[in-house]
This record gives sequence, structure tokens and C-alpha cells, in this order.
Amino acid sequence: MKKFNDNFWWGASSSAFQIEGAWNEDSKGESIADYNSFKHSDQQADTKVASDFYHHYQEDIKLMKQMGMKAYRFSIAWTRIIPDGDGIVNQAGIDFYNHVIDECLANDIIPFVTLYHFDLPLALVKKYNGWASRDCVRAFRRYAQICFKAFGDRVKNWQVINEQNLMVRVNERMNMDNVPQDEVEKVRAQMDYHMFLACAYAMNDCHQMVAGGKIGPAISSTMTYPVSDQPLDVWAAKMNDNFKTNYALEMYCFGKYPGYYRHFLQEQGIYPQTASGDDAVLASAHPDFIAVNYYRTLAAEYLPADQEHPVGQRVSDIDFDLYGYFKIKKNQHLKATEYGAQIDPLGLRLVLNEYYEKYRLPMIITENGLGTADKLTEDGKVHDQYRIDYLKAHIEACYDAIQDGVELFGYCPWSVMDILSSHQGFKKRYGFIYVNRTDFDLKDMRRIPKDSYYWYQKVIKNNGLE
Ligand code: BG6
Repeated sequence: MKKFNDNFWWGASSSAFQIEGAWNEDSKGESIADYNSFKHSDQQADTKVASDFYHHYQEDIKLMKQMGMKAYRFSIAWTRIIPDGDGIVNQAGIDFYNHVIDECLANDIIPFVTLYHFDLPLALVKKYNGWASRDCVRAFRRYAQICFKAFGDRVKNWQVINEQNLMVRVNERMNMDNVPQDEVEKVRAQMDYHMFLACAYAMNDCHQMVAGGKIGPAISSTMTYPVSDQPLDVWAAKMNDNFKTNYALEMYCFGKYPGYYRHFLQEQGIYPQTASGDDAVLASAHPDFIAVNYYRTLAAEYLPADQEHPVGQRVSDIDFDLYGYFKIKKNQHLKATEYGAQIDPLGLRLVLNEYYEKYRLPMIITENGLGTADKLTEDGKVHDQYRIDYLKAHIEACYDAIQDGVELFGYCPWSVMDILSSHQGFKKRYGFIYVNRTDFDLKDMRRIPKDSYYWYQKVIKNNGLE
């Protein structure tokens, strides 16, 4: 048996815009996630109904309890609490999350709450161009304080922003579609900085306002292998991790950009505008843990700059290449999902060890999973052995990392049930529980536990792997 600690948080995850639906019910405001999803409403499901957790939460939490979950990682929609982002507080939104939190607690499930998962209020985009403005920092701080005050008596564990380090790379998520091309990187760097500041305020406020409260960032982890043993390729792989994830971890944990990143921003002329007092705020904030989202690893080689491509020029978004630094390559040694994610359980052990060595903070996996088109077969079941294989291998990697000395206190795979995939609607499913709908046919929205649900139930019951 590969047994875990008795207090290990076996859980699962979701986010508001992907699971809740009821996008404008009970005075909820429109978010950037709603807005972007409506742009693709003719191609795939949007946020309007999603998995309709808003109307099914009692039944859904009951299923979570039956699976044995000890923790449920979910996010609060800022636009339910404050529909326009920085105006009137919507009591109906507070009531909804009170019900969800109370239902979790009544079922002995720890509510583990993310404050902001890709769903900035659209009103803030219109008013301030979102995170480009310090007004957005002020608005987020107020929203976070409202949440700590309303829910902090029962919610003791918080994540601030989900995958800031990934979100900031995607222009659509950051509402940068209309920013002139030559200003994009400057605006991006400014938005990123404001989110770090907002995060620092939220961490400090949580510590002050929530008795026994713990809070940390949820990052999109990156683990990059060099394609060869050429020193420049090794450096390129390191810099890919540094530019996509490690700079952010340094900011969260130590309150300042590492030298290589500061130097890059200065050299590119895109160092963000700061205000006096920011340094002290950033330095005073300390996370209690790191929440790690892990799906895959990358491989990279050195990418020299040339006449046409100056140092610092980016190509693409999520897995961008950077001239003068790195180019992403396919790893020939790994199998990939149909959507191209290279499956690599050992990479999880490596990345957990790396973060622990550097930051010495407890960690929890808040996302890890396999997205694919599951089939409801004639026997009324979903036989997702491929998902079981994926999760099993990654849980083994967690076990190994713990043996290596890493303080890992929980595993919350993505996702608790089928939810709206951020890119492929309901074509790509991640859940333990099948939701009987397709992109364009809501059918009966029935919840059907998949084979992986019963398998995970056993893992939790045994507190580990046989
Ligand atoms: C993570 C996000 O980056 O990846 C989730 O936090 C997202 O919101 C998940 O759903 C999987 O990505 P996708 O595009 O397959 O939904």
C-alpha cells in the first residue's frame, strides 16, 4: 500500500464560471469569462448554464460526500458578490456561497476557496481597462475583504488568484484585444504587477481578518526539459520555467522580481509603474502554502534572436516562445493527450521537489487531470479507465514526492464533475461525474458517476493506492 497521512486532503476542484451557470441570475453581473464565452456561443457551450451547479449544488455536494472528498476547491464569482466589481454588494450572491459553504461543512468537506478564477467583472474592464489600472487593485482588495468578512468564520483556507502566471499570457482573458500591438507587453507587465500587489493585500488582509486563516497563490506550474545537453538548451529550459512560473513564485514569496526578470523588463522598457509604499506591501505578504496546478511538462531549446526577431519578441501565448531565450519543442519521449498535453507523472514529482527546495512551503495540488471526450455507453455508465490510469500515476508521483521530503497536504484533481472546458466546452471533459449534456443540447443534466468516481472513492477510503 502507498498510504498517505491521515489528514491528507483528498479533494477535487472546479471554478465558478465553469460549473455554476445562472450567469445573470439573482443580480449576478457579467464577467470577462462570460463575455469571452459568448463570443463562441455558436461553436460550443458557454457559461449560461455550464453544469448548472447553481441549481444542483445540494445534490452535487452529496455526491462529493459519497465519493469521500475531504476538501472541495471552488471559486467565488466576484460578479455574484459585487455585480459591477466595485459597487453595491449583492446579498443574493453572499447567500448562495453561504449555502454552498454550509452544505460542504454539513458534509464534512473543507471549503477551499479561490477568490478569482479568470472571471474579472466586465464592468471593471469597461471602467478601468481592468488590471491595467490601480483602481482594479483597490476593487479587488475590497472584494476580498468582503469575502473574508462574510465567509471567514467558516472558510479558513483561501487561494487568491488562479493561475495569474498563465492568465496574464492570454490576451483575451486579460481583455487586451484592443491594446495597440507596440504596447501589449507593457500593458501585460503592468497588469501582472497590479495582480501581485492585489495578491499581497489579500494575503495580509486574510491574515488579519480571518482567525486561523491560511492563504496562498494557485499557480500554473511549469516543468521544462532541455531538448539536448547543450548548455544553451539547458539554460533555455530553465528560463522557460523562470519566465512562465518561477518569477511569479518569487514575487509571491519574497515580494520582488528576481534579477533576471527585473533586468528583462527594464531592458525591454516595460518595467511597470509602481507607487511608493508598494515595496513594503509586497515584502510584508507571505503565503502559507503554494497551490499547484499541474497537467503536463514541456521541452525547450535555445532560440537565438536575429535581425528580424529581436530579443524579447514573443510568439504565441500560453506556451510562448521568446527570442533570445527559448523555443518550445515536442518531447519525443512522452505520450500526449489528444489535445497535445504531454503526460508526465514524473514531472510532477520533480516540480514538487523543486518548489519545496526553493520555498520550503507546504503545497497542495489544486488541479491535475485528463480532458477528453468521455462516452456514456449503453449500460448507462462511463468507462474512463484512461482517466484512472492518469490519476493513479500522478497520485503515485505525489506519494514519491512526499517520500522525498516534500510537505504535500492534499490532492484536488480537476475536476470534481464535468464542467465547461475553458477552450473546448463540453467536448472535453475532466470530471469524476458525468453531466448529461452536450454543447448544444442540455438534455436532462443528470449526474452520472464515472468509473473513475468509484475508483477514487476507494483511493480515499484506503487513504492511498493499493
Ligand atoms: C487550468 C484552468 O489552466 O486548466 C482551468 O485553471 C481549466 O480553468 C484547466 O479548465 C483545463 O484547461 P481547459 O482549456 O482544458 O479547460
